[in-house]
Amino acid sequence: MIEKYQKPAELYDGLRLHQNENTGGCSPKVLAALAALKPDQVGFYPPYEAATQACARYLHVDPDRLSLLNGLDEGIMATAVSYLRARAGVGAPEAIIPEPAFEILAFDTEIVGGRPVRIEPNPDYSFPLQRVLDAITSNTRVVFITTPNNPTGVVTPPDAIRTIAARVPAGAIVFVDEAYAEFSGTSFIPELERYPNVVVGRTFSKAFGLAGLRIGAITGHPDTLEPIRLVVPIYSVNIAAVVAVQAALDDLEFLERYKAQVEQSRELLYAACDRLGLRYWKSAANFVLVDAGARASALAAGAAARGIYLRDRSKEPGLEGCLRVGTGMVAHTQRCIEVFEEVLCAAE
Ligand SMILES: Cc1ncc(COP(=O)(O)O)c(C=O)c1O
Repeated sequence: MIEKYQKPAELYDGLRLHQNENTGGCSPKVLAALAALKPDQVGFYPPYEAATQACARYLHVDPDRLSLLNGLDEGIMATAVSYLRARAGVGAPEAIIPEPAFEILAFDTEIVGGRPVRIEPNPDYSFPLQRVLDAITSNTRVVFITTPNNPTGVVTPPDAIRTIAARVPAGAIVFVDEAYAEFSGTSFIPELERYPNVVVGRTFSKAFGLAGLRIGAITGHPDTLEPIRLVVPIYSVNIAAVVAVQAALDDLEFLERYKAQVEQSRELLYAACDRLGLRYWKSAANFVLVDAGARASALAAGAAARGIYLRDRSKEPGLEGCLRVGTGMVAHTQRCIEVFEEVLCAAE
């Protein structure tokens, strides 16, 4: 029995710090591009060439090595469908998933009849390379690596990716999810030419603030991408996302300003955690994993009652006591810290 994916509740009446979105929204240039859409653009099926080229330029890859996606979620599902689908007469295809992980990875694996092989974390959430290598079998079809990882914010060393790529059986791939790469400034993309069995997924939902429009991209060797491309519906990216991504990529100053806000927010949150006696892990992403111990659920509930939504993962194995807190615009983080202080002081 496949456990149903629990879609986050629709909480739009407060400060959303629970889905790692851009808390300041998108660039004004994106809104201008959307407003400039013409009736025939909406009436026709969307063209992809210009947006593909813009994304390829941004990621410094050849456009033949990149496909647009309706969000990186679609890339993960398409990878599962193409590489992890159960086939008669052979053992279940296996996906190796270092935990704690983005829940969709295991969910999509199971939904297509694959078997998630969950790798236990190290206590400091550093990458458990040896356990990943030990878990590789002839049935391994995908190794999912998220860097920086969600929910820990910890970067996976590129050498671990290289070692795994050299070890997986022929026909298997390493899927590197770089949803938060803008914040860490690290990427495996420059190495893809040397590692044809690695694909990298990116999204415009996070740093660029386009989550509501749904657009991402996948890049890698064309032969490795081909099975994934085959299962993505031909017009899965809509015209609003097509024009928005080009406008967003035309405003990289907006991106730099937001990254600076995130960096400052993380420092403010670390300092607040130090004052409040909460453990945390230094993050390279736009969120911080905070260990509130036995107070975790009360803190999440108290914050929600004050209009601030946090991601409570405190009941999950390997994440006991932990909340994931989005660190976006500084003003939002300051409000979150005030609420932390209020809730925790009221509880004492
Ligand atoms: C690690 C990771 N990958 C993928 C996604 C999904 O991205 P998108 O909005 O592009 O579907 C998320 C969103 O939270 C994520 O955390």
